[in-house]
Amino acid sequence: MHIRPLSDISADALNALLDDAFGADRHMRTAYLLRKGMTPVDHLSFGILEDSALVASIQCWPVRVDNADLILVGPVAVASHRQNEGLGTQLMQGMLNAVTPQDAPMVMIGDPEYYGRFGFSADGTSGWTLPGPWEPRRLLLRNDAMVALPAQGTLGPAD
Ligand SMILES: CC(C)(COP(=O)(O)OP(=O)(O)OC[C@H]1O[C@@H](n2cnc3c(N)ncnc32)[C@H](O)[C@@H]1OP(=O)(O)O)[C@@H](O)C(=O)NCCC(=O)NCCS
Repeated sequence: MHIRPLSDISADALNALLDDAFGADRHMRTAYLLRKGMTPVDHLSFGILEDSALVASIQCWPVRVDNADLILVGPVAVASHRQNEGLGTQLMQGMLNAVTPQDAPMVMIGDPEYYGRFGFSADGTSGWTLPGPWEPRRLLLRNDAMVALPAQGTLGPAD
């Protein structure tokens, strides 16, 4: 297994992995609208290769809730034939290890039953609005530095 920056990974390989993990209709997801037009945050976005095959990837994006900066985590994707072998954990822990004190709090849309173990919870997100449908219980925040964030606000791309 090798960890590689996303910039070293072909768009075709990444798209094939995301189609496999989330389905080809993934572009309709609200998370895609949230970060529309944004470029991934380099130091928090990477892939895991096995030999030369991409088997897992994580991407993070600059977003905002009103005027407060956030980092949107996801998609977090593990190839269907390699799920439940620890790769998702490796992606999340690798990303969290790469976070710097300058990085904004992190938000994501995901299952709290999984992402709770990485410090994410729906606490603080119930007043936020998204540009598409979402389940409030799956709008998760990790705000270790206790940065003051708006209780009410609209999430969207950073620019
Ligand atoms: C969700 C995902 C990133 C997890 O990565 P993974 O490598 O498969 O999972 P890990 O090996 O790190 O962890 C496995 C454990 O997490 C649990 N788990 C995995 N996905 C889960 C989920 N969506 N909800 C609750 N628990 C989950 C497994 O049951 C397993 O539990 P155990 O340790 O008690 O046996 C990966 O399965 C994936 O890409 N799935 C497709 C996309 C998807 O469905 N995402 C939904 C969440 S947004």
